[in-house]
Amino acid sequence: MSEVHVIEHPLIQHKLTHIRDKSTGSKMFRELVEEVSTLLAYEVTRDLPLCDVEVETPVTKTESQVIAGKKLGIVPILRAGLGMVDGILKLIPAAKVGHVGLYRDPDTLEPVEYYCKMPADIENRELLVVDPMLATGGSAEAGIQFVKDRGGKNIKFVCLIAAPEGVERLQEAHPDVDIYTPAIDEKLNDHAYIVPGLGDAGDRLYGTK
Ligand code: PRP
Ligand code: URA
Repeated sequence: MSEVHVIEHPLIQHKLTHIRDKSTGSKMFRELVEEVSTLLAYEVTRDLPLCDVEVETPVTKTESQVIAGKKLGIVPILRAGLGMVDGILKLIPAAKVGHVGLYRDPDTLEPVEYYCKMPADIENRELLVVDPMLATGGSAEAGIQFVKDRGGKNIKFVCLIAAPEGVERLQEAHPDVDIYTPAIDEKLNDHAYIVPGLGDAGDRLYGTK
C-alpha cells in the first residue's frame, strides 16, 4: 500500500487558506498555487539520493554532496495541473515536463483523455504527477495509468487538496504511488466537488466559467 504524506508546514497551510478563500481572485490564486507548489516540491524531494563530490572552496578542498544524478519529470494533468508546474520548476529547473490532457465528464464524472505527450526517457525518471484536486480520484487514476502505459515507473502524486474518497481510490488503483497533499478534506458533495475544498481549480486559475 502506498503512503499518504500530509504536509502540514505552516507556510503551506497559511497559503492554502487564502487559496480556499472564494474572494481570492485569479491572479492571486495563480501566484499562491505556484508558491505552494514550490514548497511542496521541497518536501517531495526530501528522499532524493545524494553522492559525494570534491569541491574547492576559496579556503580549501573538501568533500560535499550533490543529488546523485537522478533525473526528474513533472507531469501535470491538464488543465489545472499546469498551475503547479512553474512553482516546481523553480526548485528543479532541469526537470522535463510531460503533459496528460484529461477532463472529468460532468455527467459520468469519468475522465476523458484528449492529449498525452511524455519525455522520451520517461522510464529513467522519477516522476511527479501533479493536479491540485484529488476528488473522486478518477482523473489521477487515469492520468497515472497513461504515464505507466508509456513506460513511467517511479511515480509520486502531488496535489493541493484531497478527498478521502480520492485517496482510497488512488491507493487501490496504484499502490506503488505515494500521495503528497497538504490537506485531506471532509468529503465530496453530490456533484463530486471537494468539501470544503476550493471550488473548481481550473476555473479559478484561468478565470473561466
Ligand atoms: C479537475 C481537477 C482534476 C479533477 C479532479 O479537473 O483539476 O483533474 O477535476 O476530479 P476527480 O478526482 O473526480 O477526477 P477538471 O476535470 O475540472 O478539468 P480542468 O483541469 O480542465 O478544469
Ligand atoms: N475538481 C475541482 O476543480 N474541484 C473539486 O472540488 C473537484 C474536482
